[in-house]
Amino acid sequence: MTSPKEDRGAVSERDGVDVLGEIADQVRGCPKCELCRTRTNAVPGEGNPRARVMLIGEGPGFYEDREGRPFVGNSGKFLNALLAKAGLAREDVFITNVVKCRPPGNRDPLPDEIAACAPYLEGQIAAIDPDVIVTLGRFSMARWFAGERISKIHGQAKRDGRRVIVPMYHPAAALHQSSLRGAIEEDFERLPKILAEMERSRESEAARDAPKEAQSKLF
Ligand code: URA
Ligand code: SF4
Repeated sequence: MTSPKEDRGAVSERDGVDVLGEIADQVRGCPKCELCRTRTNAVPGEGNPRARVMLIGEGPGFYEDREGRPFVGNSGKFLNALLAKAGLAREDVFITNVVKCRPPGNRDPLPDEIAACAPYLEGQIAAIDPDVIVTLGRFSMARWFAGERISKIHGQAKRDGRRVIVPMYHPAAALHQSSLRGAIEEDFERLPKILAEMERSRESEAARDAPKEAQSKLF
């Protein structure tokens, strides 16, 4: 159930081109906002190119900037434990951030930085085409849920075309606040159910489309 999708083509390797690898190369050399001046390493994101679940955080912190990998510090360890609650390993999912370079002192990313970086995130979403996107924290949530409050909508799946978006608290915030910790743990425990529902709806879509295809071949 939680295995990477096998029935779809290698979406990230269109015409032999490794789309995710190309995006990562562009990110590592990107000069498009001020954050390029202070980064040690850009953090394009990593994981399964055919993941059914994609997680989007805020931006790299100290350890991520040092290693060039997302969620490797304390919040990363907590995220690994949360994924395990959903029966998922890091290798099953794809993890990235709204901005790919560390904001100095872990300050909030600025609107123009988020805008400059958005095309990389768009490209990653298009290449992976996940069934479920989990937003971690308010900056990735804002892309799909402008003006909403996380305390009200966390854990609730919202349809966006062929996929669903599930807003969740940021692991770094939840780690230090026991009330949020319980909430994010429960939200991750509910992910397998959401994935199963997505699988069912994709299957019924396929069953609906199949007769149409057979019919169109007749004419
Ligand atoms: N927090 C984030 O939002 N992203 C990371 O990669 C690490 C910590
Ligand atoms: Fe480029 Fe994004 Fe890094 Fe800014 S944060 S320099 S837009 S990769």
